[in-house]
Amino acid sequence: MSIIYDVWYDESMDIIARGAQYKVIDTHDGRVRKVLLTPAESREVVAGWYAEGEADAEELAVDYRQPALKAVQVVADLLRVHPKLAASLGNPVFEAEGTYTQDKARVLRGVFAEMSEAESRRLIDDCIELILRHWQYGLGECVFNFSVNNGLDEQGRMVLLDFGEITTSRDDVKRRIQSERWLRSFSYKQLPQSLQAYYRERMRERLTVAELHRTWRQAPTSGKLAI
Ligand SMILES: Nc1ncnc2c1ncn2[C@@H]1O[C@H](COP(=O)(O)OP(=O)(O)O)[C@@H](O)[C@H]1O
Ligand SMILES: [Mg+2]
Repeated sequence: MSIIYDVWYDESMDIIARGAQYKVIDTHDGRVRKVLLTPAESREVVAGWYAEGEADAEELAVDYRQPALKAVQVVADLLRVHPKLAASLGNPVFEAEGTYTQDKARVLRGVFAEMSEAESRRLIDDCIELILRHWQYGLGECVFNFSVNNGLDEQGRMVLLDFGEITTSRDDVKRRIQSERWLRSFSYKQLPQSLQAYYRERMRERLTVAELHRTWRQAPTSGKLAI
């Protein structure tokens, strides 16, 4: 709660989403504020993904905070060197303790719901091109949950909203390519079958170890802050 214009303002009314790391608050200026959850809040979110009492103890013990803090540091350092990368990360502006503001985007899950098959294929292509573009800066996708972690900006450009799930290790990316990690992600599993086939083919074609070696440039911070 905070006081704005002399009335009590309840922030919870403007929370538009919650992940395991962040709650996302609409600031009504075309931006959102993403506030890092406390460990107790994170556990609550993760427990909510499971049926009552069925939450896996290991899953609940995962520390979501430290990786998020590191990721924010890596991205902040990277954007100082490459400011033109900011748009494809939603123009984040960093505040204290892992919190940041970001352009408000249309999260892909909702966009897919309104799209034809041909338009959906184009979205998948854009997701893949974004992954490849970020390789050029030493940022690698880890979880491939594009339907919740990607969105479209006002100009309809693809944006990576959740950079808490990236790595700066090329070897890590290589392992994920070799195991086709994306086939185990819920964003893939939730696609209609015809799009699953398209996604599988396009990913296999575009995300190759050869392409990784050709495009990858080590992020400037990764020596001291590998994630
Ligand atoms: N810039 C944004 N605009 C609109 N919705 C967003 C934005 N960033 C995140 N979200 C929504 O909030 C959810 C949680 O944010 P995310 O960055 O993925 O945090 P977490 O690390 O907790 O998963 C996302 O899955 C998405 O639905
Ligand atoms: Mg997320």
